[in-house]
Amino acid sequence: MQIAVVGSGTMGHGIAEVAAISGMEVKLIDVSWDILNRAKERMTDSLKRLYERGVIKDSPDSIMSLIEMSVSYDVAKSVDFAIEAVPEILDLKRKVFNELDKVVPKESILATNTSSIPISDVAEATSRKQKVIGMHFFNPPPLMKLVEVIPSKYTSEETVDFTVDLSKKMGKTPVRLRVEVPGFVSNRIFLRLLQEACREVEAGEATIEEVDSTARNKLNLPMGIFELADYVGLDVVVDLWKVIVERGASDVKCSSFKRKVEAKELGVKTGKGFYTYPSPGKYSKVKLPQESRLKPERLISLAVNEGAWLIENDIVNAHEIDTVMKLGFNFPKGIMEMADSLGLENIVNNLKGIYNLGYKAYEPNPILLNMVSSGAKFYKA
Ligand code: 3HC
Repeated sequence: MQIAVVGSGTMGHGIAEVAAISGMEVKLIDVSWDILNRAKERMTDSLKRLYERGVIKDSPDSIMSLIEMSVSYDVAKSVDFAIEAVPEILDLKRKVFNELDKVVPKESILATNTSSIPISDVAEATSRKQKVIGMHFFNPPPLMKLVEVIPSKYTSEETVDFTVDLSKKMGKTPVRLRVEVPGFVSNRIFLRLLQEACREVEAGEATIEEVDSTARNKLNLPMGIFELADYVGLDVVVDLWKVIVERGASDVKCSSFKRKVEAKELGVKTGKGFYTYPSPGKYSKVKLPQESRLKPERLISLAVNEGAWLIENDIVNAHEIDTVMKLGFNFPKGIMEMADSLGLENIVNNLKGIYNLGYKAYEPNPILLNMVSSGAKFYKA
């Protein structure tokens, strides 16, 4: 199997690495040799770490030998599958898809690793709309087990099946959305966690450290919410927030993330975001206080409401939402499972309380209201 990956940044180099670990021949394309050489260093470093921990059996050198790098699309002329992972700018993505469409064999599939841009908008730049699909990996791709598979309104069943199968061959667990929604499952839920975290801080209900302490110490998440935002990149967060809200999701007024981006403090990648890191690109776990005023059910209530919306609209079911959160974000439990154990009534009461303050996004979803009145849970005990 031969795969092209276009864009060798944070996600692209990780996806190329995952494909090579799975024994696939990879053609990694970017616009300059400086960028590609940086990607090579990052892949080699990551492979060494995986090898030392016994996660991979083949040597880093033998895996790297499967990756050919190029500044030209010509290397993609015989690939079976191509994945685009360039910055989240629609025009740029459309340009890349147009190029791929010219070079990649007509029967091959073109996938985008976009976090939030509609797949149909990208597909329309090609002459093979039914063979274009969303294949959304999680950072860092070598460690995170999830791939969201997102068909556009044009994507054929055959394309979906092939992509689901390929995800498995890459050692990932695919979750397939039935219908495309902006931000998919992962980033819609992530956005709601970010919005509530931001609202808490800007309303003076908790500090950034308290929000993150609740996330890490009470919900046992691997990272705090602001810490995760720093890790993903605050520019990426602002972009995905904008795209999801512009396409219809209700907004929650918050300026903390935008202000950080304006100050060019983008998180781990620049060495400073909400927290300070050892050097640009080097993440180290943030130190947090043990105590926090913020209750865990309050932090997740808006995210649970979003989960209910996804179920109501038949995008995915509760189990699939939880798979996304467990395998895409390494949550120890899914968000709907957490809602069950923290009490749906508590979740709804939090939503109502904040809604009554004038935040429209917190209007409790009818699914949650019905479940509370009938005493139902997402999972049977
Ligand atoms: N490759 C190989 N190994 C890596 C690695 C990489 N890219 N990154 C980290 N590791 C290794 C480390 O070397 C370390 O190994 P060791 O135990 O032998 O020292 C091990 O993984 C653990 O790493 P750390 O000690 O640095 O820190 P943690 O224990 O906190 O683990 C983490 C790091 C796995 C990233 C964990 O914090 C985590 O799961 N965080 C959540 C990440 C997440 O939510 N990702 C999704 C973001 S959203 C997204 O991507 C979607 C997009 O559209 C926005």
